Amino acid sequence: MAVRQIRTIGDEILTKKCKPVRELTPRMAQLIEDMFETMYESDGVGLAAPQVGILKQIVVIDVEDENQYVLINPEIVEASGSQTDAEGCLSVPGKSGTVTRPDHVVVRCLNEKMEPVEYVGDGLLARCFCHEIDHLQGHLYVEKVEGELRDLEEEAEE
Ligand code: NI
Repeated sequence: MAVRQIRTIGDEILTKKCKPVRELTPRMAQLIEDMFETMYESDGVGLAAPQVGILKQIVVIDVEDENQYVLINPEIVEASGSQTDAEGCLSVPGKSGTVTRPDHVVVRCLNEKMEPVEYVGDGLLARCFCHEIDHLQGHLYVEKVEGELRDLEEEAEE
């Protein structure tokens, strides 16, 4: 396991579309382990492969609901409701912004064993699914922010 370097906004790789994963190679399994380690190291709740420089459709998520979600080739097949709340991203360090997302999302994807699965997310998990799947399309949450991006330190002092 290894912590990988997180690419930050301005890095072109974050604007590119990711390719689907066809087979789970040992390298890919290693990447998934490293993505979890990198995410935990930075206190994140989700990480997409392009954030560590790999243009593959792979996402890891842990919103502390006792699941470690691995999403390979994910697709949102159902979205409903709406939530407006603060959002951040490890690729946009020190910042936060208000984004409206669906409140309920169903994702169809492959898991870490390349088995087809469906994940249902509400609230934070739904937000996470949408945010991370956006990364795979080359989109950052800052494109969807309502109002200004805020500074995290300033917010903590208020
Ligand atoms: Ni992000």
